[in-house]
Amino acid sequence: MDARSSRYQDVYAQWQRSPEGFWAEAAAGIDWYEKPKKIFDPSAGIYGRWFVGATCNTCYNALDRHVLAGRNDQPALIYDSPVTNTVKTFTYGRLLSEVQLLGAILREFGVEKDDRVVIYMPMIPEAVFAMLACARIGAVHSVVFGGFAAKELATRIDDGRPKVILSASCGIEGARVVPYKPLLDEAINLARHKPQACMIFQRPQCEAALTAGRDRDWRKVWENAVNYAKTSECVPVAATDPLYILYTSGTTGIPKGVVRDNGGHMVALKWSMQNFYGISPGEVWWSGSDIGWVVGHSYIVYAPLFHGCTSILYEGKPVGTPDAGAFWRLIAQHGVVALFTAPTAFRAIKKEDPKGTFIGKYDLSKFRTLFLAGERADPPTIQWAEEVLNVPVIDHWWQTETGWCIAGNPVGLGALPVRYGSACVPMPGYAIDIVDEANKVQPANKIGSIVVKLPLPPACFPTLWQQDARFKESYLAEFPGYYKTADAGYKDEDGYVYVMSRTDDIINVAGHRLSTGGMEEVLAGHPDVAECAVLGIKDDLKGEVPCGFIVLKAGVNRPPSDIEREIVALVREKIGPVAAFKLAITVARLPKTRSGKILRGTIKKIADGEPWTMPATIDDPVVLDEIGSALSARPRR
Ligand code: COA
Ligand code: AMP
Repeated sequence: MDARSSRYQDVYAQWQRSPEGFWAEAAAGIDWYEKPKKIFDPSAGIYGRWFVGATCNTCYNALDRHVLAGRNDQPALIYDSPVTNTVKTFTYGRLLSEVQLLGAILREFGVEKDDRVVIYMPMIPEAVFAMLACARIGAVHSVVFGGFAAKELATRIDDGRPKVILSASCGIEGARVVPYKPLLDEAINLARHKPQACMIFQRPQCEAALTAGRDRDWRKVWENAVNYAKTSECVPVAATDPLYILYTSGTTGIPKGVVRDNGGHMVALKWSMQNFYGISPGEVWWSGSDIGWVVGHSYIVYAPLFHGCTSILYEGKPVGTPDAGAFWRLIAQHGVVALFTAPTAFRAIKKEDPKGTFIGKYDLSKFRTLFLAGERADPPTIQWAEEVLNVPVIDHWWQTETGWCIAGNPVGLGALPVRYGSACVPMPGYAIDIVDEANKVQPANKIGSIVVKLPLPPACFPTLWQQDARFKESYLAEFPGYYKTADAGYKDEDGYVYVMSRTDDIINVAGHRLSTGGMEEVLAGHPDVAECAVLGIKDDLKGEVPCGFIVLKAGVNRPPSDIEREIVALVREKIGPVAAFKLAITVARLPKTRSGKILRGTIKKIADGEPWTMPATIDDPVVLDEIGSALSARPRR
């Protein structure tokens, strides 16, 4: 990896000279019905819109055009599910006919262009068919991750107001079968908005009872559609029309509905496959994420298909399905050339197989690159992966809001030297600054808020679903002229970006983005709790885990351990198992400043065993000793 042999600097400079020229060229990789009248229109939308006047169809670009171009028999999707002992390959031709069929079914349910469809499904091929079928008929999908509880699903139903919900009877989490249908029923009960219909995919591991008049059996509807040879055509949509809504944690309990458009999304993702990831059409690509997350949307489903690749859909875990060799088995069996996952997956493998002995059992000769994102990639994990795999390990930084990489090491343009702890350099489209509270640009190596100059590049969200004001307030107001990433960090003298922490209450647990504010709302809802604080503390496996401190109301004389158990169960019930909330600690008081602000930063440092200094503004210093003692008495995993 030599900076001089990389084309990165030239390509980034080309974008700086002419952003519109750059994206116009990238747009040639997409098939349009009508070409854009304007590459970028600064007067449209909140900060301008990309590819205004163009019409297109995302599903056409993912499937139809590849079939027409001769990829009919090439595998498009390989479903590999060790938890059900299944490997199933769908060629581009087969995937297209499944999606045409499901598009027709959705149309018969009354779903029209712009209608929303909620997809609450495990990692099965039908979930991918569902996303593409929505795209085909111009409907807007809203995929909800299976690890969320009914209340979270209900919030998303009320915000998106779907006409139809697509779901399955259960998910399979390692050895555990998780019934989805009771969660769906409860969510629909809780929600004010009621869908017109639900289509349920019955899995033999746990069949669900269907609600008469509302629920339809997926397989029966499918068989009927096959018998009548139902099909659907691609509906041309505006490049600026929404393709999907994906909810992500905000600073309050109410999630933010990130909107993705059709045109910009296709252009940026298609560009990224060759230029960032260095993948050629026809190659086998694997993103070991979940379709419920942005990584799953962009790199399990859309980007690899826009690029004519074969994408793997993996229903399993890095360890335990059946062992710490699962990833290597998949790479060898399917000829995977690159894997994209979260560092936490590698920490899990490293913990079980520190010497990487499983690797020797498999032929990984086709495997070229490992990409990591979703949380800060800790240097020991990167170094371990480099050693055992003997391939470049590439960290890159992005967010649900952007839909693709903000900064990373562009393997496709020629990799730059790796600097451990850095997500590397900004991608074309992103001009990154580090600013202080007064929006003043900071010099190299000085930590501050990481911000991106407006306009954001194609694929980034134009707004939040039906919440323009919240979009402006949350992302554009604090640093005028910039998009606030809510990440803090610095750039070194060569422009390498170091992403260190969030500036809000978001924590990253096993690569999953969660709001501690949302958890505090749950804790505060317990009848015995007077006050609480939730913060993320260091965890060897998951990077961070939430830890809740509670102060009980005066007069409560039940054993604190009972209340702590109830609190843990309450977070699981209200937010879901994905919150990984297992630690509630009762304390007599919370440390506060004299103005009443809880000293979260100091508590976190004590919990993480980092050096800390007594805050000058603290009300009563003794409280920190009490917190320290409560933390040292906590159960260790
Ligand atoms: N449906 C239902 N429950 C789910 C779920 C789903 N789709 N996904 C996770 N859960 C549950 C898990 O079973 C677990 O439940 P438990 O508390 O009963 O054990 C809980 O939510 C927490 O999940 P997670 O934090 O993912 O922990 P885990 O122990 O199941 O797995 C890893 C840990 C590291 C193996 C896993 O997080 C992983 O593979 N992560 C890397 C890939 C990734 O998902 N990245 C995110 C976006 S890039
Ligand atoms: P999500 O929206 O779930 O993708 O989470 C986005 C957040 O995850 C970012 O704002 C960062 O805080 C964190 N993140 C993602 N990738 C990285 C990375 N490579 N390095 C550091 N933090 C990251």
